[in-house]
Amino acid sequence: SSSGSGSSNIRRKPVIILVVGMAGSGKTTLMHRLVCHTHLKDIRGYVMNLDPAVMTLPYAANIDVRDTVKYKEVMKQFNLGPNGGILTSLNLFATKFDEVISVIEKRADQLDYVLVDTPGQIEIFTWSASGAIITEAFASTFPTVVAYVVDTPRSEDPTTFMSNMLYACSILYKTRLPLILTFNKVDVAAHQFALEWMEDFEAFQTAASSDQSYTSTLTQSLSLVLDEFYNNLKSVGVSAVSGVGMEAFFNAVETSAEEYMETYKYCLSLT
Ligand code: GTP
Repeated sequence: SSSGSGSSNIRRKPVIILVVGMAGSGKTTLMHRLVCHTHLKDIRGYVMNLDPAVMTLPYAANIDVRDTVKYKEVMKQFNLGPNGGILTSLNLFATKFDEVISVIEKRADQLDYVLVDTPGQIEIFTWSASGAIITEAFASTFPTVVAYVVDTPRSEDPTTFMSNMLYACSILYKTRLPLILTFNKVDVAAHQFALEWMEDFEAFQTAASSDQSYTSTLTQSLSLVLDEFYNNLKSVGVSAVSGVGMEAFFNAVETSAEEYMETYKYCLSLT
Protein backbone atom coordinates (compact mmCIF):
# COMPACT_ATOMS: atom_id res chain seq x y z
CA SER A 1 0.00 0.00 0.00
CA SER A 2 1.20 3.51 -0.68
CA SER A 3 -0.78 5.20 2.04
CA GLY A 4 0.97 7.00 4.86
CA SER A 5 2.45 5.05 7.73
CA GLY A 6 1.44 5.18 11.39
CA SER A 7 0.04 8.44 12.61
CA SER A 8 1.57 10.50 9.81
CA ASN A 9 -0.61 11.79 7.02
CA ILE A 10 2.23 11.83 4.55
CA ARG A 11 2.29 9.16 1.87
CA ARG A 12 5.27 6.95 1.19
CA LYS A 13 4.78 7.24 -2.56
CA PRO A 14 5.32 8.82 -4.95
CA VAL A 15 8.70 10.35 -4.14
CA ILE A 16 8.99 13.88 -5.55
CA ILE A 17 12.36 14.57 -7.19
CA LEU A 18 12.98 18.29 -7.67
CA VAL A 19 15.66 18.63 -10.35
CA VAL A 20 17.54 21.92 -10.00
CA GLY A 21 20.85 23.14 -11.36
CA MET A 22 22.69 26.04 -12.96
CA ALA A 23 21.86 26.85 -16.58
CA GLY A 24 23.81 24.51 -18.82
CA SER A 25 24.37 21.87 -16.14
CA GLY A 26 22.35 19.49 -18.32
CA LYS A 27 19.09 19.40 -16.37
CA THR A 28 16.82 18.88 -19.34
CA THR A 29 19.03 16.23 -20.93
CA LEU A 30 19.26 14.45 -17.58
CA MET A 31 15.48 14.60 -17.12
CA HIS A 32 15.12 12.93 -20.50
CA ARG A 33 17.60 10.22 -19.52
CA LEU A 34 15.84 9.61 -16.19
CA VAL A 35 12.49 9.33 -17.96
CA CYS A 36 13.95 6.78 -20.41
CA HIS A 37 15.41 4.83 -17.50
CA THR A 38 12.06 4.66 -15.70
CA HIS A 39 10.39 3.38 -18.88
CA LEU A 40 13.05 0.71 -19.39
CA LYS A 41 12.90 -0.48 -15.78
CA ASP A 42 9.13 -0.36 -15.43
CA ILE A 43 9.43 2.28 -12.75
CA ARG A 44 6.13 4.13 -12.58
CA GLY A 45 6.59 7.85 -12.78
CA TYR A 46 5.10 11.18 -13.67
CA VAL A 47 7.01 13.99 -15.28
CA MET A 48 6.28 17.61 -14.47
CA ASN A 49 7.59 20.68 -16.26
CA LEU A 50 7.74 23.89 -14.23
CA ASP A 51 9.59 25.97 -16.84
CA PRO A 52 6.98 28.29 -18.42
CA ALA A 53 9.41 29.58 -21.06
CA VAL A 54 10.86 26.34 -22.43
CA MET A 55 10.12 26.01 -26.16
CA THR A 56 10.44 22.27 -26.70
CA LEU A 57 11.04 19.39 -24.31
CA PRO A 58 12.69 16.12 -25.34
CA TYR A 59 10.26 14.16 -23.11
CA ALA A 60 6.49 14.15 -22.70
CA ALA A 61 5.34 15.87 -19.51
CA ASN A 62 2.27 14.56 -17.67
CA ILE A 63 1.83 17.92 -15.97
CA ASP A 64 3.08 21.04 -17.70
CA VAL A 65 2.94 24.63 -16.44
CA ARG A 66 2.66 25.71 -20.09
CA ASP A 67 -0.80 24.09 -20.34
CA THR A 68 -2.08 26.46 -17.64
CA VAL A 69 -0.03 29.63 -18.09
CA LYS A 70 0.95 31.20 -21.40
CA TYR A 71 4.28 32.85 -20.70
CA LYS A 72 4.27 35.15 -23.77
CA GLU A 73 0.80 36.45 -22.90
CA VAL A 74 1.78 37.02 -19.27
CA MET A 75 4.76 39.09 -20.49
CA LYS A 76 2.49 41.20 -22.70
CA GLN A 77 -0.34 41.56 -20.22
CA PHE A 78 1.86 42.65 -17.32
CA ASN A 79 4.43 44.43 -19.49
CA LEU A 80 7.32 42.31 -18.23
CA GLY A 81 10.73 41.23 -19.46
CA PRO A 82 11.68 37.55 -19.84
CA ASN A 83 12.62 36.90 -16.20
CA GLY A 84 9.65 38.83 -14.81
CA GLY A 85 7.47 36.86 -17.21
CA ILE A 86 8.78 33.50 -15.97
CA LEU A 87 8.47 34.58 -12.34
CA THR A 88 4.90 35.86 -12.75
CA SER A 89 3.86 32.75 -14.71
CA LEU A 90 5.18 30.58 -11.91
CA ASN A 91 3.34 32.75 -9.34
CA LEU A 92 0.09 32.25 -11.24
CA PHE A 93 0.69 28.50 -11.38
CA ALA A 94 1.56 28.35 -7.66
CA THR A 95 -1.86 29.78 -6.75
CA LYS A 96 -3.42 26.65 -8.28
CA PHE A 97 -0.90 24.18 -6.96
CA ASP A 98 -3.37 22.44 -4.63
CA GLU A 99 -5.07 21.16 -7.81
CA VAL A 100 -1.76 19.74 -9.03
CA ILE A 101 -1.25 18.02 -5.68
CA SER A 102 -4.73 16.43 -5.86
CA VAL A 103 -4.04 15.12 -9.36
CA ILE A 104 -0.93 13.36 -8.02
CA GLU A 105 -2.75 12.17 -4.90
CA LYS A 106 -5.45 10.55 -7.02
CA ARG A 107 -2.78 8.63 -8.93
CA ALA A 108 -0.56 7.98 -5.91
CA ASP A 109 -1.14 4.23 -5.88
CA GLN A 110 0.17 3.94 -9.43
CA LEU A 111 3.23 6.16 -9.03
CA ASP A 112 6.72 5.59 -7.67
CA TYR A 113 8.22 8.96 -8.62
CA VAL A 114 7.38 12.39 -9.89
CA LEU A 115 10.31 13.97 -11.71
CA VAL A 116 10.07 17.76 -11.62
CA ASP A 117 12.01 19.95 -14.08
CA THR A 118 12.51 23.53 -12.87
CA PRO A 119 13.17 26.78 -14.79
CA GLY A 120 16.59 27.17 -16.46
CA GLN A 121 17.32 30.25 -14.33
CA ILE A 122 17.85 28.41 -11.06
CA GLU A 123 17.11 31.34 -8.72
CA ILE A 124 13.61 31.76 -10.19
CA PHE A 125 12.68 28.54 -8.47
CA THR A 126 15.01 28.42 -5.48
CA TRP A 127 14.64 32.05 -4.34
CA SER A 128 11.05 32.95 -5.20
CA ALA A 129 7.87 32.88 -3.17
CA SER A 130 6.21 30.60 -5.71
CA GLY A 131 9.15 28.19 -5.64
CA ALA A 132 8.82 28.04 -1.86
CA ILE A 133 5.04 27.53 -2.07
CA ILE A 134 5.42 24.71 -4.59
CA THR A 135 8.23 23.03 -2.62
CA GLU A 136 6.23 23.29 0.61
CA ALA A 137 3.09 21.89 -1.04
CA PHE A 138 5.04 18.87 -2.27
CA ALA A 139 6.97 18.30 0.95
CA SER A 140 3.88 18.40 3.16
CA THR A 141 2.19 15.68 1.10
CA PHE A 142 4.91 13.38 -0.27
CA PRO A 143 8.53 12.50 0.51
CA THR A 144 10.45 15.15 -1.42
CA VAL A 145 14.12 15.28 -2.38
CA VAL A 146 16.28 17.75 -4.31
CA ALA A 147 18.61 16.59 -7.08
CA TYR A 148 21.16 19.36 -7.53
CA VAL A 149 22.76 18.91 -10.96
CA VAL A 150 26.42 19.92 -11.28
CA ASP A 151 28.36 20.41 -14.51
CA THR A 152 31.31 18.20 -13.53
CA PRO A 153 33.84 19.24 -16.23
CA ARG A 154 33.30 22.93 -15.42
CA SER A 155 33.64 22.24 -11.70
CA GLU A 156 37.20 21.02 -12.11
CA ASP A 157 38.03 24.68 -11.63
CA PRO A 158 38.19 25.10 -7.80
CA THR A 159 36.51 28.53 -7.89
CA THR A 160 33.57 27.20 -9.88
CA PHE A 161 33.43 24.13 -7.66
CA MET A 162 33.20 26.23 -4.53
CA SER A 163 30.55 28.56 -5.96
CA ASN A 164 28.50 25.56 -6.98
CA MET A 165 28.81 23.93 -3.55
CA LEU A 166 27.88 27.17 -1.76
CA TYR A 167 24.80 27.42 -3.93
CA ALA A 168 23.84 23.82 -3.19
CA CYS A 169 24.48 24.53 0.49
CA SER A 170 22.09 27.49 0.45
CA ILE A 171 19.40 25.32 -1.18
CA LEU A 172 19.87 22.61 1.46
CA TYR A 173 19.39 25.05 4.31
CA LYS A 174 16.54 26.90 2.61
CA THR A 175 14.48 23.83 1.69
CA ARG A 176 15.63 21.54 4.53
CA LEU A 177 15.07 18.62 2.18
CA PRO A 178 17.49 15.76 1.47
CA LEU A 179 19.87 16.86 -1.27
CA ILE A 180 21.62 14.66 -3.82
CA LEU A 181 24.64 16.21 -5.48
CA THR A 182 24.27 14.89 -9.00
CA PHE A 183 27.57 15.21 -10.83
CA ASN A 184 26.56 15.16 -14.48
CA LYS A 185 28.65 14.74 -17.65
CA VAL A 186 30.98 12.14 -16.12
CA ASP A 187 31.50 10.86 -19.68
CA VAL A 188 33.63 14.01 -20.13
CA ALA A 189 35.25 14.21 -16.68
CA ALA A 190 34.99 11.70 -13.82
CA HIS A 191 33.75 13.20 -10.54
CA GLN A 192 36.50 11.54 -8.49
CA PHE A 193 38.26 14.89 -7.92
CA ALA A 194 35.04 16.29 -6.41
CA LEU A 195 34.72 13.34 -4.01
CA GLU A 196 38.33 13.89 -2.96
CA TRP A 197 37.82 17.62 -2.38
CA MET A 198 34.70 16.89 -0.33
CA GLU A 199 36.46 14.21 1.67
CA ASP A 200 39.60 16.20 2.40
CA PHE A 201 39.37 19.98 2.51
CA GLU A 202 43.14 20.34 2.57
CA ALA A 203 43.26 18.70 -0.85
CA PHE A 204 40.77 21.30 -2.00
CA GLN A 205 42.78 24.13 -0.44
CA THR A 206 45.90 22.95 -2.23
CA ALA A 207 44.03 22.97 -5.53
CA ALA A 208 42.50 26.37 -4.79
CA SER A 209 45.78 27.97 -3.71
CA SER A 210 47.08 27.76 -7.26
CA ASP A 211 44.22 30.05 -8.24
CA GLN A 212 45.40 33.62 -7.61
CA SER A 213 41.92 35.10 -7.76
CA TYR A 214 40.95 33.65 -4.37
CA THR A 215 42.38 34.90 -1.11
CA SER A 216 43.50 31.88 0.85
CA THR A 217 41.85 32.94 4.12
CA LEU A 218 38.44 33.18 2.48
CA THR A 219 38.93 29.83 0.79
CA GLN A 220 40.00 28.24 4.07
CA SER A 221 37.03 29.55 6.01
CA LEU A 222 34.59 28.56 3.30
CA SER A 223 35.97 25.07 2.94
CA LEU A 224 35.53 24.59 6.69
CA VAL A 225 31.89 25.66 6.40
CA LEU A 226 31.40 23.31 3.48
CA ASP A 227 33.01 20.42 5.35
CA GLU A 228 30.00 20.31 7.68
CA PHE A 229 27.63 20.65 4.73
CA TYR A 230 29.20 17.69 2.87
CA ASN A 231 28.37 15.42 5.82
CA ASN A 232 24.69 15.99 5.12
CA LEU A 233 24.59 14.91 1.51
CA LYS A 234 24.80 12.10 -0.94
CA SER A 235 26.66 12.38 -4.21
CA VAL A 236 26.36 10.40 -7.40
CA GLY A 237 28.10 10.60 -10.76
CA VAL A 238 25.87 10.40 -13.83
CA SER A 239 25.97 11.03 -17.53
CA ALA A 240 22.80 12.16 -19.23
CA VAL A 241 24.47 11.35 -22.54
CA SER A 242 25.89 7.85 -21.88
CA GLY A 243 23.30 6.82 -19.28
CA VAL A 244 25.89 5.90 -16.66
CA GLY A 245 24.84 6.17 -13.00
CA MET A 246 21.06 5.87 -13.30
CA GLU A 247 20.84 2.99 -10.78
CA ALA A 248 23.04 4.90 -8.35
CA PHE A 249 20.85 7.96 -8.78
CA PHE A 250 17.61 6.10 -7.98
CA ASN A 251 19.27 4.32 -5.04
CA ALA A 252 20.27 7.72 -3.64
CA VAL A 253 16.70 8.95 -4.15
CA GLU A 254 15.34 5.90 -2.32
CA THR A 255 17.69 6.39 0.66
CA SER A 256 16.93 10.11 0.77
CA ALA A 257 13.19 9.44 0.72
CA GLU A 258 13.56 7.07 3.68
CA GLU A 259 15.56 9.72 5.49
CA TYR A 260 12.77 12.16 4.74
CA MET A 261 10.15 9.83 6.22
CA GLU A 262 12.23 9.36 9.38
CA THR A 263 12.64 13.11 9.88
CA TYR A 264 8.97 13.65 9.20
CA LYS A 265 7.93 11.04 11.76
CA TYR A 266 10.33 12.57 14.26
CA CYS A 267 8.85 16.03 13.69
CA LEU A 268 5.33 14.67 14.19
CA SER A 269 6.37 13.04 17.46
CA LEU A 270 7.42 16.49 18.72
CA THR A 271 4.06 18.14 18.04
P1 GTP B 1 18.91 25.10 -19.43
O1 GTP B 1 17.62 24.42 -19.81
O2 GTP B 1 19.33 26.19 -20.37
O3 GTP B 1 18.99 25.46 -18.01
O4 GTP B 1 20.04 24.03 -19.63
P2 GTP B 1 20.06 22.65 -18.95
O5 GTP B 1 20.72 22.75 -17.64
O6 GTP B 1 18.72 22.04 -19.03
O7 GTP B 1 21.08 21.90 -19.89
P3 GTP B 1 20.82 21.05 -21.21
O8 GTP B 1 20.12 19.80 -20.91
O9 GTP B 1 20.25 21.94 -22.25
O10 GTP B 1 22.32 20.68 -21.54
C1 GTP B 1 23.32 21.69 -21.74
C2 GTP B 1 24.40 21.12 -22.65
O11 GTP B 1 25.12 20.08 -21.99
C3 GTP B 1 23.86 20.50 -23.93
O12 GTP B 1 24.75 20.81 -24.97
C4 GTP B 1 23.87 19.01 -23.63
O13 GTP B 1 24.03 18.23 -24.78
C5 GTP B 1 25.10 18.89 -22.74
N1 GTP B 1 25.00 17.74 -21.83
C6 GTP B 1 24.02 17.48 -20.95
N2 GTP B 1 24.27 16.36 -20.26
C7 GTP B 1 25.45 15.89 -20.70
C8 GTP B 1 26.26 14.75 -20.37
O14 GTP B 1 25.95 13.92 -19.51
N3 GTP B 1 27.43 14.61 -21.06
C9 GTP B 1 27.83 15.49 -22.02
N4 GTP B 1 28.98 15.26 -22.63
N5 GTP B 1 27.10 16.57 -22.36
C10 GTP B 1 25.93 16.77 -21.70
